[in-house]
Amino acid sequence: MDMATDYSASILEGLGEGIVAFDQTHRAVMANAHLIALMGWDKRAVCGASPEVLFAQRPELLRILNEGMKNKVLVSDMDLVHHNADGGLQHLRVSTSFLNTQCGLVLAVRDVSEIKRMEWEIFQVEKMTALGRLAASVAHEVRNPLGAIDIQLQLLEEDLDELSSALKERLVGRLNIAQTEMKRLDRLVYNFLRFSRTPKLHLRQVSLNDVVRRVFELVSPEAREREVVLRLELSDGLPAINGDEDQLGQAVLNIVVNAFQSMAEGGDLIAGTQTESGQVCLMLKDTGCGIPEEEVDRIFEFYYTTKDEGTGLGLSIAQRIIYQHGGHIDVESRPEWGTTFRVYLPEHER
Ligand SMILES: Nc1ncnc2c1ncn2[C@@H]1O[C@H](COP(=O)(O)OP(=O)(O)OP(=O)(O)O)[C@@H](O)[C@H]1O
Ligand SMILES: [Mg+2]
Repeated sequence: MDMATDYSASILEGLGEGIVAFDQTHRAVMANAHLIALMGWDKRAVCGASPEVLFAQRPELLRILNEGMKNKVLVSDMDLVHHNADGGLQHLRVSTSFLNTQCGLVLAVRDVSEIKRMEWEIFQVEKMTALGRLAASVAHEVRNPLGAIDIQLQLLEEDLDELSSALKERLVGRLNIAQTEMKRLDRLVYNFLRFSRTPKLHLRQVSLNDVVRRVFELVSPEAREREVVLRLELSDGLPAINGDEDQLGQAVLNIVVNAFQSMAEGGDLIAGTQTESGQVCLMLKDTGCGIPEEEVDRIFEFYYTTKDEGTGLGLSIAQRIIYQHGGHIDVESRPEWGTTFRVYLPEHER
């Protein structure tokens, strides 16, 4: 092997991208380890194989290859979604290029699932911020007339006292309905306002373990009442993070409250911390009712709730707080078994 091929080989292997090349007879001449792993191929069976064999399970990639080889049409950074056998989605970004003046074809594939996930999260948070601003202005405008109506209803109630007879009873009944609806409206607007406030973070060096301990202390009387056993599995040498203790506590509390509510018959709630590739990770695992698979993607949407008294904002707020800290939050759930939330936060820089 000469020097140039030596370099090319190691560059090809070092790329964060999967590459396969086909010659003019449409046989694979090389594939790098990245693509072999991504496609789950048998390494020894790649050289000499046809696209039909290699991409039998990936019709979308086969189509792109044929377009290039037969019709000489290339693609550049085309995004595809592949449905894995386990039901998960894999987002692929694909490009093709000619090998040696159109005699052969090179296919480059990048797994962009992580990027897609982050884009989605950013989209959610931006949507939330925009909605928050709108909510704030609407809520202000609505709350003043609500206050006026409330006062008028109270006065009316006092006036009614001077009446006697069956008519009074009927009027009081109506008035009570109006007052109940008023309160409902006021609560709605109040929640709007609560949500639209985006407090500034007061960052300092924080121990995530302490945050979790504090939240667990706070909720332990309620846990006893609900027959929920709290367990801490905190890592000793956990690095500090740069964070706002109160805000992080709020995020953890929102997740913990949901966990309680999911365990109507009692259960276990485990909080564990650990480090994972330069990040501090907090795991909160409950043995509650779980979330149906088709709903899991929706739980971070604002106003998504399955509870009569829920506002559907708890997780949206938690996600926004974690996101403001440069972290992200993941969920894994199985109906009947329970739900695990994982919060990842960047380590404090020394
Ligand atoms: N640990 C969990 N187990 C089962 N379902 C959950 C869990 N956490 C969240 N969910 C589901 O996600 C939905 C949204 O949660 P979120 O905290 O955002 O709102 P909420 O709890 O319904 O209302 P709020 O928190 O505003 O009182 C819940 O209604 C519930 O269906
Ligand atoms: Mg909640």
